[in-house]
Amino acid sequence: MLNFDFHNPTHIAFGKGRIADLAKLVPAQARVLILVGGSSAEKTGTLGEVRAALGERHHATFSGIEPNPSYETSMKAVEQAREGGFDFLLAVGGGSVIDAAKFIAAAVRFEGDPWSILLKRGRNITAALPFGAVLTLPATGSEMNNGSVITHRGQGAKLAFSSVHCYPRFSVLDPTKTYTLPPQQLANGVVDAFVHTVEQYLTYPVDARVQDRFAEGILQTLIEVGPRLLTAPEPVYDDRANLMWAATMALNGLIGAGVPQDWSTHMIGHELTAAHGIDHARTLAIVLPAMLHERRAQKKDKLLQYGERVWGITQGSEDERITAAIERTRDFFERMGVPTRLSGYGLGADAVGPLVAQLEAHGMVQLSEHRDVTPEVSRRVLEAAL
Ligand code: NZQ
Ligand code: ZN
Repeated sequence: MLNFDFHNPTHIAFGKGRIADLAKLVPAQARVLILVGGSSAEKTGTLGEVRAALGERHHATFSGIEPNPSYETSMKAVEQAREGGFDFLLAVGGGSVIDAAKFIAAAVRFEGDPWSILLKRGRNITAALPFGAVLTLPATGSEMNNGSVITHRGQGAKLAFSSVHCYPRFSVLDPTKTYTLPPQQLANGVVDAFVHTVEQYLTYPVDARVQDRFAEGILQTLIEVGPRLLTAPEPVYDDRANLMWAATMALNGLIGAGVPQDWSTHMIGHELTAAHGIDHARTLAIVLPAMLHERRAQKKDKLLQYGERVWGITQGSEDERITAAIERTRDFFERMGVPTRLSGYGLGADAVGPLVAQLEAHGMVQLSEHRDVTPEVSRRVLEAAL
């Protein structure tokens, strides 16, 4: 096992009816700026519950944070937070709203050009406003980590940052809040959480048994409940609860502690979203199967372990078992209604060159656990995903 630090300060309030706990979780004297996306929080009644729980606290709402939150919109919220003297942010929504909250929290306290937060990947953040979250879409893990991904629409750049100052103080996880999600967003959540787990698990063995078995447990949970989420005539509380906690655990630092991590699928996926607007999780479903085929030699031992422990594949040569494990993964995404090829999104070979150029422009030239996924390797992966 590799050396590691593990510290996660986010308080999780999990379960039905927990939004009422905001009354205790948000400091009594806080001036609260609530952040929401489009119209879902209002329509579903969640925003009303949040406002009721805040009681007498001074609060206002900033709405309009888009999926794949933009720098441009986030900066408008920064202005409102500064002008209104708000000292606490409350994100109500999915990963996009929570990611925006992290950026806004840091940018309000930042001197200099706030875009440099992204260019420096968050290393230049020295302070941030405190913030909490009410999660309505289980997928990203943003509710219990310190990472965020922001898109500069003007530059067509989707970049990630992280900072110890950007953990939510708390996150409310009420599984019933997922009942209004359309099937596409449920499927996205399952696929995103699955790929987060894979990017921290499917590298090379370091005898990290607890992390491996946690990761395998998350993957098996997603495989069990994922398809049921799409076919159940009515939402089933425990399936939603298991999805929600699996997605949080997939990216809160626990399974990634002391193990090598990959993230090349995510970095290529971000370029696909920036250039073509494809949902984050769907970009991962395109890239991952092709990436695993390309990297089957470097990942051989873990691919065999994954095939056996997650998919029960024990028959055949090593090569056959690896191919079967990758194809079961592809098949799972397809069963979730998520196409796994660029052609499924109307993209052809002419899309590949510009995507590789953007990876180069953003310095994504040494990806993976071995730092050997060069732009040429990324090109082969994208070509194999056509
Ligand atoms: O905007 P509204 O109207 O609220 O609608 C949203 C949005 O259109 C809707 N939605 C959310 N909760 C709902 C709901 N609709 C009905 N009922 C509900 N309960 O869902 C749509 C998508 O929401 P979004 O927040 O964009 O989705 P997601 O949670 O998948 O977040 C994706 C973003 O997170 C980033 C991605 O890159 C992308 O920008 N990621 C963040 C990570 C992190 N911070 O650790 C890691 C991830 O790998 C990922 O990169
Ligand atoms: Zn992701």
